Amino acid sequence: MSSQQGFLFEGTAFPGKWDTPVAQWLETLEPRRFFRIEVACNRFPLYRPVPPAGESIMELPEKLVVAIDGPAGAGKSTVGKLLAQRLHALYIDTGAMYRAIAWKGLQQGVLPCDGNSQPLTLGQEAQLTRLAEITVLRLQGEPFDLHVLVDGEDITTQIRTPEVSQWASVVAAVVGVRAALVAQQRAMGTEGRIVMDGRDIGTHVFPNADVKFFLEASLEARSQRRFQEECNRGREVTLAATRAAVAERDERDRNRAVAPLVVAPDALVVDTSDLTPEAVVGQLVDVIALQNSPVPPAETP
Ligand code: DC
Repeated sequence: MSSQQGFLFEGTAFPGKWDTPVAQWLETLEPRRFFRIEVACNRFPLYRPVPPAGESIMELPEKLVVAIDGPAGAGKSTVGKLLAQRLHALYIDTGAMYRAIAWKGLQQGVLPCDGNSQPLTLGQEAQLTRLAEITVLRLQGEPFDLHVLVDGEDITTQIRTPEVSQWASVVAAVVGVRAALVAQQRAMGTEGRIVMDGRDIGTHVFPNADVKFFLEASLEARSQRRFQEECNRGREVTLAATRAAVAERDERDRNRAVAPLVVAPDALVVDTSDLTPEAVVGQLVDVIALQNSPVPPAETP
């Protein structure tokens, strides 16, 4: 560890070729802007500005789109909410939108309540598309107190049942439903900073997102998390049934014809199986900080 011009350099694992330009770059920074620079070497050199307590962590652009994709139970929602808080960004849960249309389909008798989930008829697909086009969806509130409103009715808890989860995955495979909801999602991303989570955000909704993350985890870890959530809600479920439901949804979400769940080529993949949400968010913030830090001057020959 050494200090220079009021900066504190931490970490020694640092590729030699970067030494000189980074040292020069650090000398150009104003002490009031970055109180401390931590230098670490993970998969690539990381320069993390750490501000004094209580100050904003980085100078982020006013407009920023962060895409978080991944399968059910990978931690997208908890991580997305925490990240949105850290970035002072709007958190958008696109899964809730597909759930809302599935819920409305069940309410209106377009979808049967007997658990027989497919195949949908062309008539059902047309009716669901119409529902997605005319329903007024609202996501409202702070990330950890997010309310989902359908035509003014608060259905936040109703859309979290195992039945709605399965139907949401079926409804999400309907081309017309996706077209209607993706148009709304894109409109939400035209201003300010957003953290949007889903299955196709980095590949389809915002292929030019500023940052893309893909969270994954083993089927076992994801099933355990879902099982725990169900138990916390007081539902009587077994781990085996939860695992089967998660696997069925995975299969459908990954193999549908339109905008399936795949990793965008430019997404950073994080395996969350053995990580706490806070640890995952730490990694994501590091990457965003890196992208939004001043670029070191090019190495002079
Ligand atoms: O994230 P979630 O479990 O609440 O999503 C419910 C379903 O909605 C999921 O099984 C797939 C679908 N979905 C999708 O197809 N595209 C998205 N962007 C978000 C969710």
